[in-house]
Amino acid sequence: MKKIAVFTSGGDAPGMNACIRAVVRGAIYHGVEIVGIRRGYNGMISGDIFPMDSRSVSNIVQRGGTVLKSARSKEFVTPEGRKKAYENIMSHGIDGLIAIGGNGTFTGAEIFYNEYQIPTVGCPGTIDNDLYGTDYTIGFDTAVNTSLEAIDKIRDTADSHDRIFFIEVMGRDSGYIAIQSGIGGGAEIVMVPETHTPLKKVVSTLKDGWKRQKSSSIVVVAEGDEAGNATDIANSIKEQVGDKLDIRVTTLGHIQRGGTPTAYDRILASRLGLGAIEGLLNGHKNEMAGIVNNELVYTPFIDTIKKRKPIHDDLLRMVHILSI
Ligand code: F6P
Repeated sequence: MKKIAVFTSGGDAPGMNACIRAVVRGAIYHGVEIVGIRRGYNGMISGDIFPMDSRSVSNIVQRGGTVLKSARSKEFVTPEGRKKAYENIMSHGIDGLIAIGGNGTFTGAEIFYNEYQIPTVGCPGTIDNDLYGTDYTIGFDTAVNTSLEAIDKIRDTADSHDRIFFIEVMGRDSGYIAIQSGIGGGAEIVMVPETHTPLKKVVSTLKDGWKRQKSSSIVVVAEGDEAGNATDIANSIKEQVGDKLDIRVTTLGHIQRGGTPTAYDRILASRLGLGAIEGLLNGHKNEMAGIVNNELVYTPFIDTIKKRKPIHDDLLRMVHILSI
């Protein structure tokens, strides 16, 4: 391979820049030409492709967001969009791609390969940590720490007013941020899409806590919980308990997607970026580089897309025991 392109796609995640840096410098180290594509698949379609060198990734290892910008491309979902993308890839003489993103990004890469045989290796970049084939995704650790900082602050005011807070964290289909920030923040209850939490059980846990003189309670809700978002859930609970419990809701939202990446995310992103470029140069294709049990592994896109990464039962059990 003589020329490789790197792009970020889908929801951005802190650490994506560290990953881009590792891809670019890894390519240069191995004597391969490297170009960047702006705004993910949209840039592939519009031809927003530019040469990168070692200096184009200076001073970004510590920055959140992505210098390559990102998008969720509607046009790439269409055969016409993918044809335009292929023509641009060909006209730039690109032999392979590094895709940094999540589920949607790898689904696109898989379809693109089946149609046009452009080999791609992926790096898991999403705060959700919902990809099979890696213990952790780039950005997850930072997002958990950001949520945790907010939960700690909310706990102060909850405690002062003897209140119950429902705090919604991100995670469309996944409760990883919720469970980790919930455990770290000492939440009384964590509600995740992976398990069913009956609202009756939530009410009884909160009432029991009150009887045991708890001065505040925190319920962390993943945005994708089957019972609805934090506001829906809090409203149903209020209907059941009346004004006996003083309830408030906070939605953390996109604050979790920004900010300086933690040391963990920078190192993970650097390992995965280098792993991806070296994997592509060694003949891997349509696979995601991941870290499992501290080892670099490659997992077919199809598995990262289709297989679920379950939340360990122990973690949910722990929330219950530790909030006694
Ligand atoms: O996939 C990452 C994520 O932050 C999800 O947790 C969230 O549901 C979604 O992206 C939000 O996407 P958008 O920024 O496009 O609204």
